[in-house]
Amino acid sequence: MPRVLITGGAGFIGSHTIAALLEAGYDLVVIDSFVNSSELALQRVMEIASLDAKNTSNRLEVTRGDIREKSTLEKLFINAKRQGRPLDAVIHFAGLKSVRESVQYPLNYWDVNVNGTCCLLAMMQKYNCRSLIFSSSATIYGDVSAVPISESELISPINPYGNTKAAVEQILLDLSRSDADWKITSLRYFNPVGAHPSGRIGECPLGSPNNLFPLVSDVASGRKKILRVYGGDWPTPDKTCIRDYIHVMDLAEGHLAALNHLIAERTNFLVLNLGSGIGHSVLEVVNEFEKSTKTEIPYEIVDRRIGDTAITVADPQKAKKILGWETKKSLGNMCIDTWRWQKENPNGYASEHRQ
Ligand SMILES: NC(=O)c1ccc[n+]([C@@H]2O[C@H](COP(=O)([O-])OP(=O)(O)OC[C@H]3O[C@@H](n4cnc5c(N)ncnc54)[C@H](O)[C@@H]3O)[C@@H](O)[C@H]2O)c1
Repeated sequence: MPRVLITGGAGFIGSHTIAALLEAGYDLVVIDSFVNSSELALQRVMEIASLDAKNTSNRLEVTRGDIREKSTLEKLFINAKRQGRPLDAVIHFAGLKSVRESVQYPLNYWDVNVNGTCCLLAMMQKYNCRSLIFSSSATIYGDVSAVPISESELISPINPYGNTKAAVEQILLDLSRSDADWKITSLRYFNPVGAHPSGRIGECPLGSPNNLFPLVSDVASGRKKILRVYGGDWPTPDKTCIRDYIHVMDLAEGHLAALNHLIAERTNFLVLNLGSGIGHSVLEVVNEFEKSTKTEIPYEIVDRRIGDTAITVADPQKAKKILGWETKKSLGNMCIDTWRWQKENPNGYASEHRQ
């Protein structure tokens, strides 16, 4: 079975994807600085995959390190080669992802997201590993008025985070054109939410959350008194913003399908939306969360946030056609799984440290 390097594997999407890849039989090497995650996430992934300490070392090797550190990265490629099991492909999740923070600290975002990716690509080239899946984002489309959004939509990001993702996609395109041996897939995620149905892994941002689902579950749990809904005057049926939410387990399956395709096919450069193709407004999410989890979410409508857009919905047809992949989980599944994770881990992975 191919051996795959996962950068940022302890994070929200990385940990769920690792669970899916281990189940599918892939052997994995992970590098994570844990700047926005916990080592416990990977321990719990091993538990989910029923790996004990003895057989784990073969299937899942974990290194604490920064993708910008050349020597740390190089060791991973050298060690894998020495073990006689070189790295065949990379899934590159490691990066910083807060739009708000990226406006405040653009240099940090360019350094980690763009320079970090360049360090990784240089090392892949040196060790002749030329198959890559990159975590891109729907944020690169900017303020699009026509939905659903297909991959041919103009790239026009409106914040530093989106600029870094667009810049990396350009680098990947240039690289793929420079050498036909590169096989690169860039996955543009829409709005990943939910958690593993076991309740053992989920989203656990180390700072204060500013995405809808973590905010809703903070209110449901009583940690926050009221949900602030940004804007009640958007041009949508109920006047609140509409987004394409995708369950993180569907997203993990999307990575598995993309990896299988990357390994089997000779596609030089491929860009795919990963979304459900269905839009839900903020108030629809609030209502569904209340209904499916039997909680109450008091909310107030406040002013719009700068940089928000009215509607973002993916056209997921290309991924369906090429990968044979499509989302399966409903908004109800997303709410129930988010709530299970929140209830069983009120302080995220920190809950376990306190026991
Ligand atoms: N979650 C989303 O809403 C979303 C949407 C679109 C795209 N993405 C992208 O998907 C990827 C994964 O997102 P996520 O939600 O799992 O984020 P996350 O923050 O949970 O995971 C990112 C992981 O990368 C690690 N990391 C950060 N900088 C690093 C560095 N320099 N070296 C090594 N490790 C580093 C973090 O510790 C973390 O474990 C990111 O690149 C993100 O930009 C996320």
